[in-house]
Amino acid sequence: MTYRIIVGALTGIVVSGALVTGTMAADYKIVDGTIPQSLTGKAGDPVQGKKTAVNRKKGNCLACHVMPIPEEQFHGEVGPDLGESGSNYSAAELRMRLVDPKVLNPDTIMPAFLVPGKTAVLKKFAGKTILSPQDVEDIVAYLTTLKGSYSK
Ligand code: HEC
Repeated sequence: MTYRIIVGALTGIVVSGALVTGTMAADYKIVDGTIPQSLTGKAGDPVQGKKTAVNRKKGNCLACHVMPIPEEQFHGEVGPDLGESGSNYSAAELRMRLVDPKVLNPDTIMPAFLVPGKTAVLKKFAGKTILSPQDVEDIVAYLTTLKGSYSK
């Protein structure tokens, strides 16, 4: 099945499976619980991805995950340690987790970063995605570099 994401400020109704960005739409196809194709066609930037992942107003991954980022304090432990994500998962699997982890586990508390309406958010963010498609590509690129060489 192909889904369309339109990201950003959205005034209209979001059809199920639609990803909503200002002027931008991205199609994605779920294949066996993965999203094999890049959302943007542009390679992700792992350095930017790390910044977006840590940013409390963006990925905020540290709220729930330990990551190999010792310079940041207070790593959450609600979710698994992400230090070996790049060994454990392909980019296609990681992309699925970030776009909409509820496809894999309907009960997860991990936010759906690109599908509005699946995660409880403040009213002013209703209908907006937490990340842009390029943010997701950047974080996927960063996670694929995590191969477990780090130890806390
Ligand atoms: C509110 C808590 C929360 C936040 C925020 C969150 N996650 Fe998760 N994440 C989880 C939980 C819980 C799981 C365990 C699997 C499940 O619930 O389906 C998980 C699973 C994962 C997995 C699979 C790991 C494994 O070993 O199975 C990856 C990869 C992941 N998250 C990446 C991220 C990234 C990257 C971010 C930030 C962009 C993020 N998560 C933000 C809660 C969170």
